[in-house]
Amino acid sequence: MSRLSIWLIFATACILFTFYFIARTHIDPPSLPRITFESHAQSNWTAVFSSPSRLNLTLEGNERRYQEVVRERKAEIQRFGSDKVAFPAPFTEFYTLWDFFVPAFSCPCPVYRVGTLGDGGKWTCCVERALKTNRQSGGCVVYSLGVERQSSFEQEILHADKHCQVFGFDFSVAEFGPELLADAAVNHRAHFFPYKIGGGADNHSATPPEYSLRGIMDELGHDFVDILKVDIEGSEWHALLSLVSAFEGKPLPFGQLLIEIHVGYIAERNSLGSIDEWWSILEDAGLRPFWTEVNLLDVNFLRRGPLVAEWSFLNIRGNHALVDDTLPDYP
Ligand SMILES: *[C@@H]1O[C@H](CO)[C@@H](O)[C@H](O)[C@H]1NC(C)=O
Ligand SMILES: *[C@@H]1O[C@H](CO)[C@@H](O)[C@H](O)[C@H]1NC(C)=O
Ligand SMILES: *[C@@H]1O[C@H](CO)[C@@H](O)[C@H](O)[C@H]1NC(C)=O
Repeated sequence: MSRLSIWLIFATACILFTFYFIARTHIDPPSLPRITFESHAQSNWTAVFSSPSRLNLTLEGNERRYQEVVRERKAEIQRFGSDKVAFPAPFTEFYTLWDFFVPAFSCPCPVYRVGTLGDGGKWTCCVERALKTNRQSGGCVVYSLGVERQSSFEQEILHADKHCQVFGFDFSVAEFGPELLADAAVNHRAHFFPYKIGGGADNHSATPPEYSLRGIMDELGHDFVDILKVDIEGSEWHALLSLVSAFEGKPLPFGQLLIEIHVGYIAERNSLGSIDEWWSILEDAGLRPFWTEVNLLDVNFLRRGPLVAEWSFLNIRGNHALVDDTLPDYP
């Protein structure tokens, strides 16, 4: 074969491959809008935080930007169709639920991951301040609804501040995870209750005993929970709504909510519109998402979803460490 024809074959192959490559990759997904912060949306937060402290100004700006994102989300869900399912079948749609819901509220101080890598760790907002500011009322209080078998988060919190008490609630297991139980330096500050934390009314004589968040706080004598961690395998859709309605009109009694959200576990919260409705109720109650992490263990192990995602919310209402800089810092 002549040199020339080898070159011809090579050049033709290159051109064909280029066409093939372009054909394979050039599928334009419909674009989502670019979020801009140019409009002059005024939230009522402006009235609340009118004083010129750095934290107050930061929160006010964050809230203004957050409300822009909420408007974009609602408009886009309307445009796409609020009855579209959260996770469409492969090759049918470009976007899923987590393209519309974003953690657009910035925590006003460092965000740290507490607990093990992978399944079990949680992203927290201002965690040092949150754990230390509550000293006057006896040290920080952390609630863990849904304990399962893995307590690295709780263990790390207990090591982070020696005044912290952790309370775990789960009717499906008998105790905290083995690492925490074996950790004699801190395990006396971890308290376990085999309760079912449901959406409905309290029934302490049921088996297992059924409690609302308010019911637990009354029984344990707590008026504020610094960190509320929730992993209750799909029951969160009901539980959070009844929690919000139990405190209607008042600030929710916790500083931040670290929650694992399970999509598609109940039929009535499986469309973009129905999830937006649920999300808006949390927002109206003062919760603002500042971080998310898709649970990739679930994706990889079960080859589905991502149906399960960690979400971290801070509570912009009330007077607590994350939003009130008049509270003292303790060493
Ligand atoms: C916003 O706050 C002002 C002053 O506190 C109040 O008069 C007004 O009703 C509030 N607006 C809304 C929409 O809540
Ligand atoms: C910031 O806002 C809070 C209301 O949550 C208020 O109590 C506080 O005095 C404000 N900070 C300053 C420095 O004015
Ligand atoms: C509470 O649970 C018990 C035991 O399951 C049941 O007999 C009782 O009717 C329940 N009470 C209420 C108010 O639901």
